[in-house]
Amino acid sequence: MGRGSGFGKVILFGEHFVVYGFPAIAAAVGSTTIATVRRISEPGWKITDNRPAVPGYKKKKLNEQKVSIDNILRFADIDVSQEGLHITLGGKLVCASGIGASAASCTAIARALSDEFRLGWDDNKVNACAYEGELGYHGTPSGIDNTAATFGGIVWYKRDLNGGDPTIETIKLKEPTDIVIASTGITASTKEVVGDVRKLKEEKTKWWDQIAEDYAEIAETARKGFDDMDLQLIGLLMNQNHNLLIEIGVSCVELEELVGVSRQAGAWGAKLTGTGRGGNMVALTPGRDLQNNVFGIIKQRGFSAWRYRIGV
Ligand code: MEV
Repeated sequence: MGRGSGFGKVILFGEHFVVYGFPAIAAAVGSTTIATVRRISEPGWKITDNRPAVPGYKKKKLNEQKVSIDNILRFADIDVSQEGLHITLGGKLVCASGIGASAASCTAIARALSDEFRLGWDDNKVNACAYEGELGYHGTPSGIDNTAATFGGIVWYKRDLNGGDPTIETIKLKEPTDIVIASTGITASTKEVVGDVRKLKEEKTKWWDQIAEDYAEIAETARKGFDDMDLQLIGLLMNQNHNLLIEIGVSCVELEELVGVSRQAGAWGAKLTGTGRGGNMVALTPGRDLQNNVFGIIKQRGFSAWRYRIGV
């Protein structure tokens, strides 16, 4: 039996903009998806998905998951026409859109296959395979989710729009810090939301160029902010990034409630994270007391929330 894991992630800066070649910053969270693969005598593959998930998540993603696993097996050149595979997914990562659950599962399956079939893949190869899996979930993934799922830590990621290798750099924090992630409970389709943003971008080019220019400045300043461990600046920039995400139409009432409540409770910054139109919110809450406070208030409002340390 082969086994592998992939990290959940949170995008701190640059969802959507990253699709168009702007740099983004993502952090792995401490929870992972674990995959095991076992050879079976029947042909084809089957899956047992034991991952914890927000209601509706797994059903909504089922068709995309099938395409994703076919892509992964094709990339790994594994023929299941005679002897098949039983894939089992588990681990502590709670699947909700925004936490990179699909990417974590792709990375975990890629590692489990490498383990079972003695493929000897390094992280770059695992990441390339997970990217193929991500293509099943939405047609034009930037690659940031699978990169964070594979490498962990905090990554600065910039895709090469000419098809070359992306720039992947690790950002080291002087010390880890605390965040709260909360779920709206709504599962968004990344494919649909990315498609809507693309349409807007193509229809209103001047408007987009201005927003994209503002974002580029936020990303560069944030990089410096992390290097200087200036978390107050990072929080401010997260708020600014959130405003741009509102402008491009990917926030929603529930995300605004979560962002508002977190800031009122003292978070240094808060923004939607990932696809948006549902999915998750991330709040920067340095120090356990602040983290517990923000977490507690979100829970009182009836939302699911998680506490993580990033930059570990
Ligand atoms: C989804 O987690 C992040 C998006 O930027 C899409 C992508 O990067 O592929 C919305």
